[in-house]
Amino acid sequence: MKQEAMKYETIQVTPLTPTIGAEITGIDLAQPLSDQQFHEIHHAFTQHLVIFFREQKITTEQHKAFGRRFGELHIHPVVQMDGHPEIIEIKADENSTWIAGEVWHSDVTCDKEPPLGSILHITKVPENGGGDTLFSSMYRAYDMLSEPMRAFLDGKTAIHEGAHVYGGRQKRGENREYPVAEHPIVRTHPVSGRKGLFVNRNFTTRISGLNKNESDALLNMLYQHMERDDIKCRFKWRPGSMAFWDNRCVQHQAMWDYFPQTRYGQRVTIKGDKPV
Ligand code: SIN
Repeated sequence: MKQEAMKYETIQVTPLTPTIGAEITGIDLAQPLSDQQFHEIHHAFTQHLVIFFREQKITTEQHKAFGRRFGELHIHPVVQMDGHPEIIEIKADENSTWIAGEVWHSDVTCDKEPPLGSILHITKVPENGGGDTLFSSMYRAYDMLSEPMRAFLDGKTAIHEGAHVYGGRQKRGENREYPVAEHPIVRTHPVSGRKGLFVNRNFTTRISGLNKNESDALLNMLYQHMERDDIKCRFKWRPGSMAFWDNRCVQHQAMWDYFPQTRYGQRVTIKGDKPV
């Protein structure tokens, strides 16, 4: 499916790189979106894989309302904000021993139906800079593999698990079950029709049908390949910045280069479908 070029009438769209990322201006996300605005933002999202907005003064409810235009909101299996189960707080300060998203990943791929996308609104940035987020195109990662490697991976599946990621966050005495899912390694995007790689360092534990040493070697090769600089963009947050990324074709990594400074934001996540 080839995406047609669109003449934007309600927003301006400025690409960050030819491969991934675009900044959207001319819109106030505190206001309900018109159908035309929704259509244009959705188009920019499909074309650029991750889109960014600046200086958005929105409440938690307005954030959720924006997310709901793109689908039903996802409730995280482990992390939820008090009083707002659809919100994940992204926070780090001088007491933090880890931060969310430090390892390259796509969100919650241990779910059988991993999220379509995530919308992060950052309101507090570290005083001396840092805390950027990097995004990598899984379409380009797939396209840049050799034809024999693409043929080998097409049709193979991998296991994604939540226990090793979330297990440390359970309270004493809790004995929770964590999600496990098996997904195709090469996923076809339901809107663009493009193929992309769908394994990640955080959740993927093995490739089905291979010996452990074969699976580890192949996954490591793919992870290094996905993290190459020429398929990425890097976003520098300011208070009020928002990023909306497509988990079906993008991986991201949050930089924790600002300890002991504080960074705070809230994330809304949109439900997705079963990868095919
Ligand atoms: C995440 O949602 O993985 C965190 C991203 C970030 O903090 O920039």
